Amino acid sequence: MGQAVVLAGWVHRVRDLGGVTFVDLRDASGIVQLVLRDAPKLSHEDVVRVGGSVRPRQSPNPALPTGEVEVEVGELELLSHAKPLPLPVAEEGSPSEETRLRYRYLDLRKPRMQRNLGLRHRTALAIRNYLDAQGFIEVETPMLTRSTPEGARDFLVPSRLSRGSFYALPQSPQLFKQILVTSGVERYFQIVHCFRDEDLRADRQPEFTQLDLEMAFLEDPEELFGLLEGLVAHVFREAIGVEIQTPIPRLSYAEAIARYGSDKPDLRFGMEIADVSKPFAGGPFRVFSEIVNSGGAVRALPVPGGAAKSRGELARLEEAAKGHGLPGLAWIKIGEEIASSLGKHVPPETLAAVAHAAGARTGDLVLLAGGKPETASLALGDLRLHLGRELGLIASDRWGLAWVVDFPLFKEGEGRLESEHHPFTSPRDEDLSLLETDPLKVRAKCYDFVMNGVELASGSIRIHRRELQERVFRILGIGPEEAERRFGFFLRALEYGAPPHGGIAFGLDRWVMMMAGEDSIREVIAFPKTTTGACPLTDAPSTVDAAQLRELGLRLEP
Ligand code: AMO
Repeated sequence: MGQAVVLAGWVHRVRDLGGVTFVDLRDASGIVQLVLRDAPKLSHEDVVRVGGSVRPRQSPNPALPTGEVEVEVGELELLSHAKPLPLPVAEEGSPSEETRLRYRYLDLRKPRMQRNLGLRHRTALAIRNYLDAQGFIEVETPMLTRSTPEGARDFLVPSRLSRGSFYALPQSPQLFKQILVTSGVERYFQIVHCFRDEDLRADRQPEFTQLDLEMAFLEDPEELFGLLEGLVAHVFREAIGVEIQTPIPRLSYAEAIARYGSDKPDLRFGMEIADVSKPFAGGPFRVFSEIVNSGGAVRALPVPGGAAKSRGELARLEEAAKGHGLPGLAWIKIGEEIASSLGKHVPPETLAAVAHAAGARTGDLVLLAGGKPETASLALGDLRLHLGRELGLIASDRWGLAWVVDFPLFKEGEGRLESEHHPFTSPRDEDLSLLETDPLKVRAKCYDFVMNGVELASGSIRIHRRELQERVFRILGIGPEEAERRFGFFLRALEYGAPPHGGIAFGLDRWVMMMAGEDSIREVIAFPKTTTGACPLTDAPSTVDAAQLRELGLRLEP
């Protein structure tokens, strides 16, 4: 106490009590209270330097680390004046997204945003330290490159030196990382910007960051899972002091869809979907028995305490189910007696058996969906999430982590097959013979890492032989000429001793978002874009001079 100090920072809050003024001074390390006599008029966010002495605070503030002390100011120097603020810094307030991003330098001064930036930094640091210790090296790959197919549109950059030609910004470093392991970099990683011109959502930005990694001689995903579980545990510990349980559970794609109605199940709560096709198979309710007998399924979702739901609420749930292409949604309420929308058709013993199979108890509701197995499950999966949130079942201090494995290699696109992940994913060896004959049955050596119902990472063991890569291209409708034109450089790299390899990429923004407890990745990116892909701070994207276009050989259509 009594120590002389010189402090500089921003005027966070001012309380003028006439004669004596209390100022909360903020800098990157936090907030401290200043006491000034005959203070000049100070505005929020003015930058000042003060000299004074530290003394015990008369009314301590336990909420602040510096809450026991205050600084009695002798001298004050105004270093920079702040105009009236377009958005508050000391309070959250409710400025529009546009205003927050236009004045991002003010928005980022909020303690919450500073914490988020710090958390992001610590996350990246923990990742680098862990992977370095595991023998990985970080290698940068180009930003001006060719298109890599990750399922989105490319951002293109016109070339001046080669008029009429375009670079694409990378959707991911996928091909470069595969070429790097082929080049003898046996353990590669990179914290890297990726660019995808797709519709934006809370967890999607046109420019985002991946933790991308790849390993040579990786043939069994389990080897990678062990290493990554160590990484995830290390990052959680270093970044937010949380211990996570390993090993992390593995779920097959089929199981994830059947039990949770999603390939990225939220495992923070129960409400598992059950298959109740059997009791309905030969039963009197024709709609369900016909569905089951023609290869469909009836699936049941238990809703704890849901027996109290009104007809109106049930009707709204049915509307939501119809949005998934289901003809309707049946229900069973387990009160003193059993009530059901199927009461006229199905005897109470069958309804009780179905409710029991769904794990429902007295007071619960069971929602029933019949249709194609996957359609029924996906519809219930959506209701599960919606109701789980509504019922407050999702504990915010729990971490629902899982590996989802055994995805199919292909999915049906418009009139042709598309890759479920990307075209470089290896089929499972035992399914190779089905490639041409029954491609939709072929399973892939790929995996997703799911956190709290969000796809956090996705990867695979890759194809490392040219012949197989060409076979997969053909099934995707990419003939030899197109394959040569788009991927010739890569196919050739596979011809000179490419080791078996595999890897994964994590969405770094999503990971930090979840550790920060935020709902949007915009909260953990310093300068994000709006949902229309604009940057209000710089007004990008913008028009360019006619001269610049001429130089590039471009003309705009009116
Ligand atoms: P994928 O396309 O699944 O895989 O991307 C990996 C992870 O990146 C994150 N992500 C995004 N985050 C924010 N905004 C976006 N627009 C966005 N798109 C994707 C997600 C996703 O799980 N090359 C493969 C990886 C591999 O096979 O190794 C790839 O990019 O968290």
